[in-house]
Amino acid sequence: MSTFDTVVHLIYLLCATLFVVGLHLMNTPATARRGNRVSAVGMAGAIAVTIVTLAWHHTVGPTAVVVLVVGLVAGTVAGLVAARRVQMTAMPQLVSLFNAVGGGAAALIALTDAVEHAGALSTSASVTGVLDVAIGGVTFSGSLIASGKLAGRVPGRPIVVPAGRLISAALTLVAVVLATLFVAGHGGVLALTVVTLAALAAGVLLTLPIGGADMPVVISLLNACTGTAVAMAGFVLDSNPLIVAGGLVGAAGAILTKLMADAMNRPISAIMAGGYGTGDAVAVAAGSGSAPVREISVDDAAIQLAYAGKVVIVPGYGLAAAQAQHEAVALAQALSENGVEVSYGIHPVAGRMPGHMNVLLAEANAPYPQLKDLDEINPAFARTDVVLVIGANDVTNPAARRPGNPVSGMPILDVDQAKSVIVIKRSLGHGYAGIDNELYTDPKTAMLFADAKAGLAALLAGLHAYA
Ligand code: TAP
Repeated sequence: MSTFDTVVHLIYLLCATLFVVGLHLMNTPATARRGNRVSAVGMAGAIAVTIVTLAWHHTVGPTAVVVLVVGLVAGTVAGLVAARRVQMTAMPQLVSLFNAVGGGAAALIALTDAVEHAGALSTSASVTGVLDVAIGGVTFSGSLIASGKLAGRVPGRPIVVPAGRLISAALTLVAVVLATLFVAGHGGVLALTVVTLAALAAGVLLTLPIGGADMPVVISLLNACTGTAVAMAGFVLDSNPLIVAGGLVGAAGAILTKLMADAMNRPISAIMAGGYGTGDAVAVAAGSGSAPVREISVDDAAIQLAYAGKVVIVPGYGLAAAQAQHEAVALAQALSENGVEVSYGIHPVAGRMPGHMNVLLAEANAPYPQLKDLDEINPAFARTDVVLVIGANDVTNPAARRPGNPVSGMPILDVDQAKSVIVIKRSLGHGYAGIDNELYTDPKTAMLFADAKAGLAALLAGLHAYA
């Protein structure tokens, strides 16, 4: 190995180390931003070294290097603009689009490799190529559908395709037969193309029937698939940094999928077999439901909070939709300054993407020790004077404790164990799972019908007046 190649491998090793260190730093909100930056430096280094190596070894001509650099710049600009412009509420669909791009790129790598080395692929190269197009194809189309569902362009409810399972089984059979032929050296690019098309169709059929509250699991599963497809592309290209990066994303996505499925308290296989829920519901007029609910005025809510000893804030999707994180943190800070013990109860699937509430509250500089996860906060509700629920619905619904409804079995935040509950939302409208929330008719609960941002600002003003 030449000195140049040795240096290249050492830099790749350094980049891989930066990925691992970055991932480790993402373990806690306090270091997560640094973790992101460290991983990005590792990725930038790996990309730069790869391009230099290609040019150094004349693996590609000068024109190809120019094409690579132009593609890189265009992709970087598009990614930066999309990430900067995106609203926090649209982040989940952007993440899904990134998953699609990763899976699609990985599948294209295997296809072009098969065209380039037609008839001359080793068995191991054929196997990784086939796995790459299969996983990458499913990820590409599945992530596009998931992104459409999250963005509201495709209905969020489960969509049952007539004979969907039968068609999926037939597609799998076709893909397996042609993949076997391809690995055995028959069928060439045509066989691989058919496997890719079958995978694309399977991705659509897999994602359409999943909807509502099961989407978190699907998103993390597709994320794991993207990582795995990228790792396969690394084998195809014999690129160590790609294998390491893809392996890390695949493993992290798989762990997240398990955590999300546990948070919903249902097996991944059951989720894949077809979901539940109805997708986002529109707001309904306040007080239009049949069951009696108690309303509270801003002034009364402010007094209750001001005189509480312990307050737990429970944020949900409505906080993200209203972009009310700064007002929530300002209110919490004012309460703390008043001597009230404040913490935030974070449900793992609150919002529309894993870690959604943590990201929002971190952006508003909520003190990290005040952020408590489900297991930590649930035993504390019995000692809590007031729970302030901000735009959270499904994750607080006591109906989850009973069988026979869309949220059955999902562990919830036991806010109804507290002495009193104030819910800020615009109406009695449903959450993502599309069912009534029994919390709202609990005698301990008072509804403050308002947009989260406006309601919290009014509460803060009220608090200043009474505290
Ligand atoms: P949801 O149950 O979806 O309820 C959100 C509530 O926010 C709605 O009932 C809505 O009521 C209220 N809201 C909307 N805009 C508002 C605004 N501007 N101001 C105040 N309130 C507003 O939210 P959740 O409790 O966070 O539960 C999350 C749900 O989404 C779960 O079912 C979960 O499975 C699902 N899901 C999660 C993810 C991830 S990864 N976290 C991904 C996809 C789906 P009004 O219309 O009455 O205001």
